[in-house]
Amino acid sequence: MKIVVIGSGYVGLVAGACFAALGHNVVCVDNNSAKIRALRDGAMPIYEPGLDVLVVENVEVARLEFTEDLREALIGADAAFIAVGTPPRPTDGHADMKYVYAVARDIAEQASGDLVVVNKSTVPVGTGDEVERLLQAANRPFRFSVVSNPEFLREGVAIDDFMTPDRIVIGSEDDWAKDVVSAVYNLPGFENTPILHTSRRSAELLKYAANAFLAMKITFINEIADLCEAVGGDVRDVARGIGMDSRIGIKFLNTGPGYGGSCFPKDTLAISKTARDYRIQLRTIETVIQVNENRKRAMALRIVDACGGNVRGKTIAVLGLAFKADTDDMRDSPSIPLIQALQDFGAHVRAYDPEAMENSKKLLTDLDYCSDAYEAADKAHAVVILTEWNEFKNLNLKQLRARTSGRLLVDLRNLYTEDEVTAADFDYWCIGRSAANRPFKKQYLAAE
Ligand code: UDX
Ligand code: UDX
Repeated sequence: MKIVVIGSGYVGLVAGACFAALGHNVVCVDNNSAKIRALRDGAMPIYEPGLDVLVVENVEVARLEFTEDLREALIGADAAFIAVGTPPRPTDGHADMKYVYAVARDIAEQASGDLVVVNKSTVPVGTGDEVERLLQAANRPFRFSVVSNPEFLREGVAIDDFMTPDRIVIGSEDDWAKDVVSAVYNLPGFENTPILHTSRRSAELLKYAANAFLAMKITFINEIADLCEAVGGDVRDVARGIGMDSRIGIKFLNTGPGYGGSCFPKDTLAISKTARDYRIQLRTIETVIQVNENRKRAMALRIVDACGGNVRGKTIAVLGLAFKADTDDMRDSPSIPLIQALQDFGAHVRAYDPEAMENSKKLLTDLDYCSDAYEAADKAHAVVILTEWNEFKNLNLKQLRARTSGRLLVDLRNLYTEDEVTAADFDYWCIGRSAANRPFKKQYLAAE
């Protein structure tokens, strides 16, 4: 089939390259000329493991191409996927739909035949109705139908998530459109993937509900981590123990500095706003949003505690800037408020991230960007592990300690054990574990 994907970002580019690798003829459209030029030269505008190979391979066999020309792309297309960004509006946190609606108008004006339009972007409930209205308002002599086909891609593992999804959701009440999108996924490799047909609005809502639930699960274990510190538990064992219950599941129970990224923060805000528009209050999600925001700030205070209550004039090394490992994405990364808070408290920050440095430089200034973890640790009073990159899991701790001026290692992703860290002459701070948690020890010792 011929498929057009509009928006060559973290979602659109992965979807386009995977559709091509699965055998479709794909044209990726983007209104960013530099991005299209780069892609035509085989240069990736984003870091996503394996994407560069997948794109180059499929461009070489002429199954994937890049253009700014939507009219040309739509000629003979069976389906057009909208994958442009839906960022939160700065004013009120609502998802900003202006890009999606602009693309819908462009499709209506430039289509040259019947077309199924598929919302791949995460869009508020009811967006499909509005996109369909915009398409029909153009009074073109063609049949348009809008389908919600939400993506569930995690950055860093997006290709795997696309190629081996837990389910494919097709939201439509139009049999023709359902058949076209079912045909898009009727490919070798998807034989055993359940396809869930729902109404368009249910598909739009379940995407937000999925992300909100995952954000809630993470926030739950983050709060349990705080309780573990107070009562002397180990959050890793508690997570393992509850996760062995098949009704709970072990995934997304890794405690950390709070969730970030282009989805959870935006989508939890959007679903709670949508609810309020319908005079419903999602108190659980509103609490998740608040707890997560507070946690990011609390992490900075934990570092200040570890430094004896004052970081003024001290150098702090931060390992990891991206919102998670295996991505260059800085959107809503916990590193942003954490580093800004440390700077506000008078610390000098040195930082390193394997992929997110360039994106970080647009957001975080007045800090030293270093070429590796050891350079970042140079003369640092404390080293903070913020993102769970593999290279931070196997640091040569003795070599790291030899570079630092202070003895503090603050591990906000629980990558290490107290024994291996103290063996390297570090004083270990982590989260959710009694054995290495000052708040617990301070409280406990005080009680003696
Ligand atoms: C995607 C989904 O769209 C979003 O709903 C989901 O929540 C996160 O993932 P993402 O791919 O991360 O968003 O957005 P981004 O990386 O910003 O890519 C959007 C692309 O669309 C950009 O390349 C931008 O240049 C392009 N674009 C934007 C257009 O081609 N036309 C437009 O009118 C607007
Ligand atoms: C998420 C959803 O997982 C995906 O299905 C959706 O399509 C897009 O949003 P993404 O944001 O790319 O994917 O990454 P994810 O792996 O979900 O991590 C999101 C945030 O949660 C990160 O900040 C990560 O560090 C944090 N996280 C995740 C935890 O703190 N603990 C966990 O156990 C898992």
